[in-house]
Amino acid sequence: MASSEPIVYINSEYLPQSQACVSVLDRGFLFGDGVYEVIPVFGGKPLRLNEHLDRLQRSMDRVSLSNPLSRDQWKEVFSLLLEKNPGADRSIYLQVTRGAAPVRDLSVEADIDPTVFVMVNDIKPVDYARLENGIEAITVDDFRWKACDIKSVSLIANVMIRLQANAKSVMDAVMVRDGLVTEGTASNIFVVQNGVISTPPKSDCLLPGITRDLVIDLARANNFVVEERDIRQSELQTADEIWLTSSTREIAPVVKLDNRPVGDGVAGEYWRKLIGIYQDYKQELRHG
Ligand code: PDD
Repeated sequence: MASSEPIVYINSEYLPQSQACVSVLDRGFLFGDGVYEVIPVFGGKPLRLNEHLDRLQRSMDRVSLSNPLSRDQWKEVFSLLLEKNPGADRSIYLQVTRGAAPVRDLSVEADIDPTVFVMVNDIKPVDYARLENGIEAITVDDFRWKACDIKSVSLIANVMIRLQANAKSVMDAVMVRDGLVTEGTASNIFVVQNGVISTPPKSDCLLPGITRDLVIDLARANNFVVEERDIRQSELQTADEIWLTSSTREIAPVVKLDNRPVGDGVAGEYWRKLIGIYQDYKQELRHG
């Protein structure tokens, strides 16, 4: 993106970021009462855009927010913003909150307008040599609520868990609820053992990641065996490989967990194959 100030979208207006304002009574600010999406864009082409907009709709339905924009209107906002913020690989961040009521009250006023905010950020080109070094993580009790399938802006539990990881000088945490692995603090998890790639099934205990689904589709299309099944915490200790996936992180190998090496303690052969396939997919998207 050029060094000039980014242009953002706020409630039907396109403004320089420093001029975009939201009321202090906005329910997103006061209660975390809103939902969001992060959509990666390669060569100007959003990755799995319809799937992101489907998930946005599901999040909004789950919190009883009506979608302020039609699918075509969302797409128009995205393409205008991408045009106004030229750059290489980018990500679209969108957020819809329930809006600002006249007074702070948990009860919802029927007729307040939602606040719609969209911005475009650069995605730093993934440094594969660095990615290959892998990341270190710890396991942490997943004390979040039973509505983790909603992409909610209320992320304080994720922040607390990430802080626990950072306090131990590691990058991330793998969360475990009732003995079962759920996800990373901002990513889904895959485990490879004996040539089988596994990931926990979709439920209210994790976010249904768009990258998760893409990795499953790409792996199956390339004849890998993929299972969506419960993963017990104990399996993390015997896994050959562990990966964390997200729109911005792509597929990151976890090479050390709870201070013990995962598999051989280096990025594994399945990761190497899948990250290659993922890069090819991005290239096709860019040039397709
Ligand atoms: N987060 N699980 C959680 C809790 C997440 O926050 C995310 C993504 C994912 C992966 O979803 P996807 O593959 O659709 O990016 C799983 C985004 C990137 C974020 O909050 O910035």
